[in-house]
Amino acid sequence: MVLRSHTKRIYPGEFSGYGQDKDIKPPDTKKSRCTPLYPEGNQLSLTYSMLSNPLNRGRNTPKRKTKVLLQCRPYHIYSKTQLVNILTRSIKAISDGEKFESEWRGAFGSVVPAKGPVKKSANKFVVKTNLKLTGASNLLEEARQQFGFHHDNILPCPGYAFLKDQTFLLFPRARESLGTILINMQIERTAMVWNQRLDICQQVANGLIYLHSLQLVHRDLTAGNILLADNNHIWISDFGRLKAEGQPNPNASGSQSAQHSQPFQGVYVNRELKDGDLQLAPELFYGTITTPKSDIYGWGKVLLNLLQGKYNWRGWSNHPNCAFHMCPDSCKHLRWPDKSKEKPRTFTSLESIIAIDKRLGPSGTPQSKKLELFRRLAIECLAIDPAQRPESMEEVLERANSIAGTSISSLSSLKQPGQQ
Ligand SMILES: Nc1ncnc2c1ncn2[C@@H]1O[C@H](COP(=O)(O)OP(=O)(O)O)[C@@H](O)[C@H]1O
Ligand SMILES: [Mg+2]
Repeated sequence: MVLRSHTKRIYPGEFSGYGQDKDIKPPDTKKSRCTPLYPEGNQLSLTYSMLSNPLNRGRNTPKRKTKVLLQCRPYHIYSKTQLVNILTRSIKAISDGEKFESEWRGAFGSVVPAKGPVKKSANKFVVKTNLKLTGASNLLEEARQQFGFHHDNILPCPGYAFLKDQTFLLFPRARESLGTILINMQIERTAMVWNQRLDICQQVANGLIYLHSLQLVHRDLTAGNILLADNNHIWISDFGRLKAEGQPNPNASGSQSAQHSQPFQGVYVNRELKDGDLQLAPELFYGTITTPKSDIYGWGKVLLNLLQGKYNWRGWSNHPNCAFHMCPDSCKHLRWPDKSKEKPRTFTSLESIIAIDKRLGPSGTPQSKKLELFRRLAIECLAIDPAQRPESMEEVLERANSIAGTSISSLSSLKQPGQQ
């Protein structure tokens, strides 16, 4: 199939989209079913007031034409033309410093509601963009990967655009993240029965099985990166840390000369940990190779949080004074002491303090015995040593399904925690 590439000039106020341009015919969808409908390299020439520095948003800088690399494909009931319109209007609004009704700021990016010619359609989407100039190429890499994913439990990215220093990703809008749900659950604003919580875990497992089948590892699987769409559909999102299985771990350079490098368990690692990093699998900091086991850890954390009914996000620390998720303010767990001989603390060693949400029912019942089996599965996934975790996400899902289907009579001999 010959992929056509086109150049088109669009000026502000003229975001008519491809559909009305006689030069650009809609591709033959029969021929190009699984191929991106417009090949990357489809460059547009847009005029924006400012696009070279995202941190300069809205300032009155001179208008200039900027080449835009743009890629879109139809999604759900939305045609490619509609999505190109929504994406280009959103880019313009962001660049012009327009006010958005809301903005989520993550580690590297900002996510805002999309703009478009038809408000009702635009409201169904959001646009993610980098906040730092250096983030553009990483975000483009993220966009290219995500654009190629096709799975019900992976957040679709039906369009993206790249300008010199800025990348824009178009996503369908989710209702909220699991992180928000867990926080609301903790303050008793959200009630969720166990079957709903289990359904979330099962959907996340399905998404991970898909990623792992492509030999990819998410590496940042946390409740904040799990999104709920309407009708309780789950999307795994945020592929900023994605890596291929077997790739070296960028945090463990193995070299003494690298910036912030410090020996830890015999490997030179970057010791600049951020607060949120402590919820990730510990080997993401000192392991040498990328493996799917890190996502098994992330999944175990999500299961544990749902069992606890709260966002207990801290997972481990190697600081002698660190008391896990009950860290006192004086704890310096973000600073790894140079000569600490302390082994990292694990969920397993702190089993006794992981209590199951009382709202899931009284103890001693068949339901509570099932929950205890789930708790044990979570703790196994959270083993500090990846070799001690279940072999694969398929195995994890099978075991979760089998616990869910376990008959009540076979649970009668199961001991409760603390029972002799
Ligand atoms: N499709 C979406 N719909 C609604 N909110 C979203 C969507 N994607 C991201 N967000 C919000 O934006 C936040 C940051 O997005 P994320 O992709 O995780 O970026 P970062 O890499 O900065 O963490 C998320 O935690 C979530 O609250
Ligand atoms: Mg995130």
